[in-house]
Amino acid sequence: MLHSSAGRAGYYGIEAPFIPAVQAFLALIMMQAGWTQATREDGDSQGWWLVGFGAVLLGIALAYLHATRRGRFRAWSRELGALDLRGDETVLDVGCARGAVTTLVAARVPDGKVIGVDLWARSGLLAGSRRGADDQIARNNAQAEGVADRVQFVPGDIDDLASDGNQFDLVVSGGGIGRLGSPATRAAAIDEAVRVTRPGGRLLIADVRNTRRYVERLTELGCEDVSSRSAGPECWYGGPWLPLVFVSARKPA
Ligand SMILES: C[S@@+](CC[C@H](N)C(=O)[O-])C[C@H]1O[C@@H](n2cnc3c(N)ncnc32)[C@H](O)[C@@H]1O
Repeated sequence: MLHSSAGRAGYYGIEAPFIPAVQAFLALIMMQAGWTQATREDGDSQGWWLVGFGAVLLGIALAYLHATRRGRFRAWSRELGALDLRGDETVLDVGCARGAVTTLVAARVPDGKVIGVDLWARSGLLAGSRRGADDQIARNNAQAEGVADRVQFVPGDIDDLASDGNQFDLVVSGGGIGRLGSPATRAAAIDEAVRVTRPGGRLLIADVRNTRRYVERLTELGCEDVSSRSAGPECWYGGPWLPLVFVSARKPA
């Protein structure tokens, strides 16, 4: 079951798996304590409140699992579909981890090329020791999805890319920029993403935090058609308060 993510052939794991694990654990403790309090002979209604809060927290954990196992793939597929790609684009995926987004976009550019960049050391995904290091898992995933002929994974720092400027028709990022430790490094990563995009090329960035700042930075850099939108309940990473948000923009021609 863990192997299958929204019908995909690759293995992509669970993003930050300790989050839903802690949420579910706390939820079950709350529900157990609330149930015991409410059903004892001198029980009071406060116990039912505890059961209710526990149930909400369990719902948040289950929504997170749905988002990371299925929702994010569907949301990315919708967003990539809306870009109406020709199929011969050159694409960069910054913070590609195991290639979940890299392989989705590669399937849409049969005559193109997709480069995934990551440091891999800090991925925070479910440990895949049985399957090797994350960069090897990314390569295996590209094979499994049938896109290895157009995908390349290279180590690199996303706030200081080794690539020349004005190279890529499309730059994508799913959660990679948000993992950077400070507003300055996140701004540097946005600057780098815009620098390597060719004039007239597009950017599509998804994250659960900082997206308003991405919109501001892209606008400051003179990008056009800058917009953001929530991926909706399918991608609730902390209930309705923390949805995945997509930010898109175009570098001026
Ligand atoms: C949330 S994960 C990315 C998930 C991936 N895009 C996906 O959709 O499955 C964030 C990734 O950013 C990478 N990362 C963090 N800081 C980085 C940096 N300075 N340079 C390159 N990659 C970095 C981590 O190694 C991690 O794989």
